Amino acid sequence: MSRSPAEDQLEDFKKKQKTAPLLTSSNGAPVEDKTNSVTVGPNGPIVLQDFTLIDELAHFDRERIPERVVHAKGAGAFGYFEVTNPEITKYCKAALFSEVGKKTNVSVRFSTVGGESGSADTVRDPRGFAVKFYTEDGNWDLVGNNTPIFFVRDPVLFPSFIHTQKRNPQTHLKDADMFWDFISLRPETTHQVMFLFSDRGIPDGYRHMNGYGSHTFKLVNAANEAVYCKFHYKTDQGIQNLDVEKAAELSSSDPDYSIRDLYNAIARGDFPSWTFYVQIMTFKQAENYKWNPFDLTKVWPHADFPLIKVGKLVLD
Ligand code: HEM
Repeated sequence: MSRSPAEDQLEDFKKKQKTAPLLTSSNGAPVEDKTNSVTVGPNGPIVLQDFTLIDELAHFDRERIPERVVHAKGAGAFGYFEVTNPEITKYCKAALFSEVGKKTNVSVRFSTVGGESGSADTVRDPRGFAVKFYTEDGNWDLVGNNTPIFFVRDPVLFPSFIHTQKRNPQTHLKDADMFWDFISLRPETTHQVMFLFSDRGIPDGYRHMNGYGSHTFKLVNAANEAVYCKFHYKTDQGIQNLDVEKAAELSSSDPDYSIRDLYNAIARGDFPSWTFYVQIMTFKQAENYKWNPFDLTKVWPHADFPLIKVGKLVLD
């Protein structure tokens, strides 16, 4: 039977070990025996001074990091960002954009938003697209989603909105009325809801979707001149989505579909990549634009603010 790289992970790891690593307790002392508790005689009580046992149980009881309140289910990978177009240097003096060919290590974490850590990957939900650039100026975190817009404009509504995606405290069930009540009472969600209920609402894994910084950011160049900008990552794999029936089937047959797809693609050398673009708006343009350029429920039309290529993001 053929096995995929994900199924062979433990075997591959074992083969790479040159010597057996030393097993230590949580405070670093070597552990001689981890498969027997110390007892008083063969059938006697277990003693409290058995540090290995107490250490093992104390660690086990506390080893779960509390689940994230949103974006709990996801998958991460490492890679690099490379500048391919010098134009970005005109707008931003950050070291990672300094010259064509400049490479910066990155980590990316993709996620669904509303579900619990054990929930299925193939649900209709925005996808998180969080990038960490390990630049020589320091780490730069750029969270984003696979949608250029968001459900709410005012952050005070975020907890209420997320609660409508969670469990009804009375029934402990997901509640469609909570969700539809919120979005039907808040017209500014319509743009994001149109996106979510379009064909792009259920991406086929994490490799076949775009990413967006979504927010409006500010770039400052070497002459300390500033402009506003939006960040876009366009998938080089092409956009691919799942239809509702296939997504429903996968949610029971392979709830970890997107994690598996990403892991196996990278393990077989089929490195996913995205082309990174910016849109630029001057302060003057921002003052006169027909709508508020900082409103997260609206985009900047490409016809008014064309995409400028910056570089590529590769996960390898
Ligand atoms: C008031 C608005 C928001 C609040 C209060 C909020 C809150 C949170 C919280 C509490 C987390 C979990 C952090 C953790 O436990 O590690 C999170 C994660 C995340 N948020 Fe938000 N969020 C907001 C808006 C946004 C927006 C507008 C975006 C996209 C542009 C976004 C993208 C993400 C992503 C991608 C993650 C996962 C990060 C990762 O994978 O490590 N959030 N957010």
